[in-house]
Amino acid sequence: MHVRVFRTVDEAAHAAASAVAAQLARTRDSVLGLPTGRTSLDVYEELVRLHDTGEADFSLAHTFNIDEFVGLASNDERRYCAFMQQHLFSHINLPARHVHFLDGGTADHEQECARFERDLASVGGLDLLLLGLGGNAHIGFNEPGRSLQPRTHRARLALETRRANAGLFEGRLNTVPREALTMGIGTMLEARAIVLIATGRSKARAVGSMFNGRISTGQPASFLQLHPSVEVILDLPAAEQLPESGFDAKP
Ligand code: GLP
Repeated sequence: MHVRVFRTVDEAAHAAASAVAAQLARTRDSVLGLPTGRTSLDVYEELVRLHDTGEADFSLAHTFNIDEFVGLASNDERRYCAFMQQHLFSHINLPARHVHFLDGGTADHEQECARFERDLASVGGLDLLLLGLGGNAHIGFNEPGRSLQPRTHRARLALETRRANAGLFEGRLNTVPREALTMGIGTMLEARAIVLIATGRSKARAVGSMFNGRISTGQPASFLQLHPSVEVILDLPAAEQLPESGFDAKP
């Protein structure tokens, strides 16, 4: 894994957005995997800026969002698809029919997850997967546990994750969904390239767990060590628990 450490959140977000723009410049019809969350907000703001300056063209791209809550009504503005619309899609030239989401409101989740996998396969899989990182080292909504599922599936959310998402639900933990649909770790690892961004001290422990030389279902992000092309973008606080040596860190 290639690690880049930046002094500020803005610099880290710029690096992640630039990686997406560079992918689109290389391959205009790229298939992108996208996360939600606070960290991605900074990246999307920068991507909108790059789009406005003509440095990021989404006109032929496809996007697949990696996760979505289960059980929210289709017009609920706390759905991740509403978040994406508000912060990215409404500001860029990505055709609406190229936007792909998991529908957490459907009755048959198994069928919905299979449809998502089929749609992804039909456009050739992910060229670039952009990831955030949970404080408990989850990626997407693949939570720490005794086992992980390789393909897109219905997942139970950890309490820590529900707490981290409570901001979206007026801080009321009991209204945060208990389940979500998420791309599985195996599907993620099939992406041709992965860029993970983590900022802030609250992510330092999870970042450290990706570099402690072990792979464990208790730390889902540790599985990224199996992938040949992962770029990890950090700010200084998130990099606090990186091992002293052995990694290509560029402050
Ligand atoms: C969320 C999402 C992830 C996201 C991660 C980090 O719960 N399911 O896709 O990458 O957790 O979120 P944040 O950036 O808000 O810390």
